[in-house]
Amino acid sequence: MLILGIESSCDETSVALVEDGRKVLSVETLSQIEIHKVYGGVVPEIASRKHLETVAGLTQRAIESAGITKEQIDAIACTNRPGLIGALLTGFSFAKGAAYSLGVPLVAVNHIQGHIAAAYPAFPELKPPFTALSVSGGNTFFIRVKDYTDMEVLGSTRDDAAGEAFDKVARVMGIPYPGGSTIDRLARQGRERLGIAECMKRFPLPRPSFEDAPYDTSFSGLKTAFINAIHHAEQTGEEVDKEVLSASFTEAVADIIVSRFVYAAEHEDSDTFVVGGGVAANTRLREKLAAAAEKYHKKLFIPPLSVCGDNAAMIASQGYYDLLAGKIAPLDENAFANLEY
Ligand code: KG4
Repeated sequence: MLILGIESSCDETSVALVEDGRKVLSVETLSQIEIHKVYGGVVPEIASRKHLETVAGLTQRAIESAGITKEQIDAIACTNRPGLIGALLTGFSFAKGAAYSLGVPLVAVNHIQGHIAAAYPAFPELKPPFTALSVSGGNTFFIRVKDYTDMEVLGSTRDDAAGEAFDKVARVMGIPYPGGSTIDRLARQGRERLGIAECMKRFPLPRPSFEDAPYDTSFSGLKTAFINAIHHAEQTGEEVDKEVLSASFTEAVADIIVSRFVYAAEHEDSDTFVVGGGVAANTRLREKLAAAAEKYHKKLFIPPLSVCGDNAAMIASQGYYDLLAGKIAPLDENAFANLEY
């Protein structure tokens, strides 16, 4: 079954063709990062307009590079939640038009489930049940994946998402949006130069947890502690060692996430873990998750860096399983800024 996937929930317009949920024939993605960079973050109205300008051309290109004709498409799968509402509506309205004109089913895909599905094309042997972690610029979720379309949220962030925290502290250091990958690089340099123990000693940062909700996370206190460290240095005329501060911050984010992973390893039945979302590209987080998985004898699947961020192949993959489960959206289906399971 050939699914055309469309993703437009934030600042990437992406269109992909995926066969049977696992074989990616083409992915055409246009990132808007350069446009939003000057504003220090995504401007929703500009994002919507850019999606509108580019989605048709990307669809044409995705069809051409897959070497198929549009008549071969069996269904259209498109993100309709959660995300920036205008951005979602642009892609989803286009998807409705495409489904109607081709006379094929429309599938409304949950973006978070899409991030989890990014692992399906990368790992053909991967099958639910497993425990998943989706860490991106907008969300931080621990999810019990009972089946391809049957999932239960174990916990999520109570304030900032992990990627959002990376982007916000980067901004304070004058690093352009989105700052996660730059902080990752600075942190690597800090660790190599001084060792992580010394970085943490120079900039001690908190790792909050919640006794009543072991999977919930919070990153805003950590972000504030980081910003306070910068302000303190400015007031005392010291120069901030960005590499060391980034290393300490990255370690704290990784520790917060890995401690939940360890809790899941100890309490969940599954022996398999899947990690997705833009922050899954983080070097230190990947290292620490791999070490924890080895210690607890768990299988860990983290897709390649190229598919950790937003892309339409993951939406087409999840859309395939949604379609198999009979989840066909009516043409008057809406888009939702917040998550609705
Ligand atoms: O999944 P994604 O492309 O978009 C959302 O659905 O949010 O994730 C983007 C987020 C941004 O916050 C970005 O700073 C972060 O992922 N990110 C990273 C790294 N690469 C991207 N954060 C930490 N380390 C990285 N290497």
